[in-house]
Amino acid sequence: MKISASILNANFAILGEEAKQILKCGADMIHFDVMDNHYVPNLTMGPIFCEALRNYGIKEPIDVHLMTSPVDSLITAFAKAGASLITFHPEATQHIDRSIMLTKSLGCKVGLAFNPATPLCYLEYELNKLDLVLLMSVNPGFGGQEFISETLEKIEQTKKIIQKSKKQISIAIDGGVNTENSKTIVKAGADILVVGSAIFKSKEPYKTTIQKLKG
Ligand code: DX5
Ligand code: ZN
Repeated sequence: MKISASILNANFAILGEEAKQILKCGADMIHFDVMDNHYVPNLTMGPIFCEALRNYGIKEPIDVHLMTSPVDSLITAFAKAGASLITFHPEATQHIDRSIMLTKSLGCKVGLAFNPATPLCYLEYELNKLDLVLLMSVNPGFGGQEFISETLEKIEQTKKIIQKSKKQISIAIDGGVNTENSKTIVKAGADILVVGSAIFKSKEPYKTTIQKLKG
């Protein structure tokens, strides 16, 4: 199981240092939440932040989560800015397959993200092309929300679909993941836990929280 640390709740005044520290303390990658005040009611970071992290010496994977509509121009910009993996919401693009192929053509891994109320049917014709399925366990837009427990069943369903396909596709869970629920989420089938406030808002050192999350 891997931890993708969501820097949404990090100290933005020292973002590069926060990213460096969190990786040093055991996170496997950086989860980079892009919000556009259109697809979601919040506004965060554009590609220049991603490029800045690369220029600061971050070598580990940067996992870009686009909560934007449309997505294609940002896919291109984030690929140039050093993204390793780009995940977008299928209902946020006019042409799902075109956006997937665009991401792959730029040398990035690709994921589809599903809101709590978004059905898994979008996987039916595209599964073979994906590296990741990201299941949102909160409604996208803000860190620090409570885990929606119905997600556990959705993880199990997704796992079954992936196993049937015999493809190597990771399942990531994003939102409200903490040291209390991480074991249950992994048991349901998660491969990657996206964790923000449980790490950055904890009184405990980053390393201790990440160790607890990894169990
Ligand atoms: C929510 C974002 C999440 C969020 C996770 O829209 O996609 O990545 O930052 O933060 P926590 O762990 O605080 O729920
Ligand atoms: Zn996210």
